[in-house]
Amino acid sequence: MQGLFITFEGIEGSGKSTQMKLLADKLAALGYTCLLTREPGGPPIAEHIRRLLLDPEHGEMLPETELLLYSASRAQHTGEWILPALKAGKVVLCDRYYDSTFAYQGAARSLDPGFIHPLTEFATFHTVPDLTFLLDLEVEAGLARINARQLDRLEQEDKAFHERVRQQYLSLALEQALRITVIDASLPAAKIHVLVLDKVLSLLGVSHA
Ligand code: TMP
Repeated sequence: MQGLFITFEGIEGSGKSTQMKLLADKLAALGYTCLLTREPGGPPIAEHIRRLLLDPEHGEMLPETELLLYSASRAQHTGEWILPALKAGKVVLCDRYYDSTFAYQGAARSLDPGFIHPLTEFATFHTVPDLTFLLDLEVEAGLARINARQLDRLEQEDKAFHERVRQQYLSLALEQALRITVIDASLPAAKIHVLVLDKVLSLLGVSHA
């Protein structure tokens, strides 16, 4: 039995974690076993890499180093957690996956997507999410939502950086419309949850929650 792989993408402050938790609770109540995880991160090695990547003290990190570290975290996470969970028939909900790399390292850091493509295939063992939700939000609204907390290295980037991230996400969604569903993240959380749940249940072949 093969599980289902669902990822959530969006700029900072788009509400991904909230939606993942709401979905996980609902799926658990319906009897599904879920793995709730995130990138960069997941298993201990990948969480170590996450700390390296997000540490605001590491301002000197090169875009190339950044890309390789995100990919290293992804390889460990995919091999150690995601693929075994899918093989066991679980629903895997992941906060960010490789679309983030194309948006942040590709568009925002201007690294060559021609290089990111094969690297991503290598780091994911050719794994592609069954479904991706892009929670789309104006950059100013997203940044206003995260302003209150201590910002990590990526969150500290300027508005133009986050605008490039957002635009790249939107073009990925146009290119890969079958996999990526765009949702207006300025809607109330409860309304977004209904949209997410409808889509997931139809993929699972469940007619009503
Ligand atoms: P988070 O704050 O949503 O947990 O994500 C951590 C940060 O890492 C966020 O600013 C986006 C960034 N990121 C990348 O730049 N490339 C990637 O491949 C991933 C997964 C995240």
